Formats: sequence, structure tokens, C-alpha cells
Amino acid sequence: MGGMKKKENKIVIANWKMNPASLKEAKALFSKVGRACSKLRRVEVVACPPFIFLNNLSGKFLKLGAQDVFYENDGRFTGEISPRMLISSGTSHVIVGHSERRELGESDEVISKKVYSVVNAGLKAVLCVGEKDRDGEGKYFEFLKNQIKQSLSSVPSRFMKNIIIAYEPIWAIGRKASDSMKPQAIRETAIFIKKILSDIYDQQIASEALILYGGSVETENVGAIISDGGVSGVLVGHKSLEVDDFIKMLKNIDAI
Ligand code: PGA
Repeated sequence: MGGMKKKENKIVIANWKMNPASLKEAKALFSKVGRACSKLRRVEVVACPPFIFLNNLSGKFLKLGAQDVFYENDGRFTGEISPRMLISSGTSHVIVGHSERRELGESDEVISKKVYSVVNAGLKAVLCVGEKDRDGEGKYFEFLKNQIKQSLSSVPSRFMKNIIIAYEPIWAIGRKASDSMKPQAIRETAIFIKKILSDIYDQQIASEALILYGGSVETENVGAIISDGGVSGVLVGHKSLEVDDFIKMLKNIDAI
């Protein structure tokens, strides 16, 4: 239509964390969400199950993501999963640097190597960042700036188009919609993140960057988070396992 900017697709990353307990349940959840996705027009949905289920899940309308990865493709690394293996399982996206992995000891340096290995392999990286708490003096801005700079320190600008930044304040994760960050604060933080990207790379990369919000996104707050928070989508944890609520959430987003 004349003069109207084309609406961009919204992105929803479903982080299943360490769930469900069996392949049977994983298949049921994946196919139910997949059927709902076939009716969406403007939402790109990526389900991120535990590694063990990846080879057994695939669909036309629902994409597949991993929750972590190792940064080498070859070598003696007991217990690790390489980007190449993820490609062979049909994965398109990889969450890197989730706060629950950082809590287990993953450093910014390791995360930046992982982000590089993901995009260098041709996959999309969903880089998670976010502060532990918000002090009254705005120190979290400095924290976020350093975390983003260091998590991207191995990543040349040409790969930035394959990186999605998921801003997830740790204090808002795993709670209720009412504990989530308010849309206005999300908007301010997303602008701040773009400013950091513009400092590290350039204005164009910053303006094209996709920023998601994660942390207690539920059916009742998802609309405001996306439209008033000014983000390109959301990363959903616990609610992505409650299939009926999750599908409602997807429909709400599609209607924005
Ligand atoms: P939540 O989790 O939606 O359960 O808050 C988000 C996340 O940890 O990625």
C-alpha cells in the first residue's frame, strides 16, 4: 500500500529448557505447535528442544533450534555437540549464552567463540544477554555494554545479519507476566542495545539488528511487549511448554 512500511515478521524462540522428559512428549508438543504455525502469517517460530530430540523432530512450519553448541567442529571433546552436527539434524538457530548456561560457568569469551562458530557454519545465533538485577544508579547499563561487547568480540561485522540478540533480564526470568519487565523499559533497553551495536559496528548494522525480549512472556503481556516494547519478537521459556497458552500467544502476535 502506498507509503506504508511493510510489516516485518515477528520472531518467537521457544526455549524448552530441560523438557520434556520423553521423545513421545517432545513429538506431540512439536507437532501440535507446528500445526498452529501453519496458520500464522507473520510469525516465524523456532522450537528449541534438548539436543537428544533434535534428530527426531522436523516440520514445514516450525523451525528447529538448539539450546547450546560447542565452538569446534572436530576434535576430542567428550560430551560436546558441534555446529556441523546441528546442521545435519535440520537445526537453523542456536541459542548461545543463555543466563542459565552463564550461571553454570560459561564466560563471555567462550560465548563469543560459540557465536562465531554458529554463524561461520551458516546457522543463526540467538545471543542472550541481560543483567542480574537493576540497581538505582544505572550500573546495569555498563554491565550490559561490556557483556555485549565481549560476547561479540570474535564476531566480524559480516556475520551480524545472522545474529539475533535476545535481551533477557535475569530478574524477570521464570516468573509471572506481572513480574516481567514493563514495555517502556524494554523499549529503552532495546534502544540502548542498538546504540552499543552502533559503537561496536556501525549505524546500519545497529538499525537492522533484531532484538528480542525474554523473561516471563505470557499470553497476557506478549502483545504489549512487542508493540509497546518495540522489539522484533520474544524468547519464551515456561509458557512454550503449555501448548494451548503458547498457541494463543502465537495467534496474539500474528494479530499485531
Ligand atoms: P521464561 O524463560 O519465559 O520462563 O521466563 C525465558 C528464558 O529463560 O529463556
